[in-house]
Amino acid sequence: MQEPTRLLINIDHVATLRNARREVFPDPVAAALACERAGADGVVFHLREDRRHISDEDVRRLREAVRSKLDFELSMADEIVGICCETRPDLATLVPERREEVTTEGGLDVLRQGDAVRAVVRRLHDAGVAEVAVFVDPEPDQIAAAAAAGADAVELHTGDFARAYGGPRLALECERLTLAARAAAGHGLVLHAGHGLDYDNYPVFRGAVPGLSEVSIGFAIVARALFTGLEQAVRDMALLVRYPA
Ligand code: PXP
Repeated sequence: MQEPTRLLINIDHVATLRNARREVFPDPVAAALACERAGADGVVFHLREDRRHISDEDVRRLREAVRSKLDFELSMADEIVGICCETRPDLATLVPERREEVTTEGGLDVLRQGDAVRAVVRRLHDAGVAEVAVFVDPEPDQIAAAAAAGADAVELHTGDFARAYGGPRLALECERLTLAARAAAGHGLVLHAGHGLDYDNYPVFRGAVPGLSEVSIGFAIVARALFTGLEQAVRDMALLVRYPA
């Protein structure tokens, strides 16, 4: 039987709020510990090249404080890959990054950048990072390219699904996710997913994706936390993730 899907929580949004006011609070490390107290399986952060939310000091403190699975999201920029190698998270997830974007907009184009991805995956493995994932659009050829580049896992970009939720493209996006999940299994890749998942769309998403090992969810949980507190928001999402209908 498959293990229950793990819930990892992206705490970048807490740092975004802190930095909007150029304050020292709310503290993303305190948020990570609250997520763990509420039963989260792990914590995700993205150290962006422009340091718009998580800072180098946050990374150092997160590495020290987090006891659950730590997922370091990163671009392939040399400096950031170096910091990730020194940090040695449990999981490194390669994502594309553009300075103008509000949030990560698409998956990494592994088809076009296969050699570069392969080199970064090897560098991370050589530094002792046991699991390396690549964030890709739910397309079988991108998944095949991620496998060929030596990735251990793919994180399916669920942004198109989230945008389609409740509209005429929903069935199509669910079908895309199903085919992508099958492709990942066919290549022996561990399956992760994330971006735009929330308390409403999660059950539909989950029904479309067989063999899902873990999800990375941030914005919806941090937004709900304003009304319920962070620990309750995590528990509410954990129920959906671990016990899908
Ligand atoms: N996975 C990746 C690769 C991301 O870039 C993000 C956004 O920071 C997420 C998951 C989480 O997305 P959201 O904050 O919309 O839940």
